[in-house]
Amino acid sequence: MRGAVYVNGTIAPADQAVVPVYDHGFVYGEGVYETLRTYNRVPFLYDRHLRRLRQSAERLLLDVPFDNASLLRAIEQTVAAAGELNEAYIRVLLTRGVGELSYDVKATPTPSLVIIVKPNEEPPARMATDGIRISLVDVLRNHPGSVNPIIKSNNLLNNALAMQAAYRRGAEEALMCNYRGEISECSQSNFFMVRDGAALTPKSAAGLLEGVTRAFIFEVGRDVGVPVRDEVLLPNDLETADEAFITSTTRELSPVTRIDDRVIGSGKPGPITMKLWEGYKRRAQELTRASVGSRA
Ligand code: PDD
Repeated sequence: MRGAVYVNGTIAPADQAVVPVYDHGFVYGEGVYETLRTYNRVPFLYDRHLRRLRQSAERLLLDVPFDNASLLRAIEQTVAAAGELNEAYIRVLLTRGVGELSYDVKATPTPSLVIIVKPNEEPPARMATDGIRISLVDVLRNHPGSVNPIIKSNNLLNNALAMQAAYRRGAEEALMCNYRGEISECSQSNFFMVRDGAALTPKSAAGLLEGVTRAFIFEVGRDVGVPVRDEVLLPNDLETADEAFITSTTRELSPVTRIDDRVIGSGKPGPITMKLWEGYKRRAQELTRASVGSRA
């Protein structure tokens, strides 16, 4: 384990950071999180991630005991303590906090804040040449009336079970359907398929995490002249896909060239996917450089 971890005001090396066992984040999985990364050493789309963190916390009636600027200072201190990093992976976790074993929120008056910082792993070069294989798994995405996937929750059992099924099939990501049988999203990313030159992604109503990268791709599409739309997508629609890709903070835009044993398009990353990915990288550089400039 490399990097540094902030726990309620104390920063420690990654292998020494601890949270109390009575933290309800540990015993009940009660908490929310955000994963960010830096470009040009600047946390990318910071305000958007913080907005989603607050929205997730609100759904748990969990207080967010900091403003964006003070959290950014804590992140910067943790990044500084992590030593030599090129770009950083940053995971911010906010849990219900420490208290007696009870679901009564009065048992835990103070939320716990954890910030994990480690070197960011850039997508490997094979991503652009070969893409990845994903698997449409049998595990269904949580019903929105249960643990709503719109909450970026520390409770990741649904995601873990789906991904473990994908690993067993030799795939690098798990694609899930919702309880209606529509495609929803992947275990750690959002799903897109390209048909007739347009990039299509399941609607929020499919029950999914509204990815910061997913929303950004709509803007990138306008920049590079690719229509991006949300639609109801069914497993049968995968047969009509010319291209496919997944999006997330850590994976940017990763071309999907196989879904189980089905080859997508030519079996290589497609032109629309690559156009959007290039547009994404260009905009990420521009936005973070502008923010370095404005601070200088
Ligand atoms: N995962 N859907 C799920 C279930 C996710 O866990 C994620 C992100 C996404 C994409 O969201 P975004 O574009 O905002 O990163 C979609 C992060 C990377 C994680 O779990 O660490």
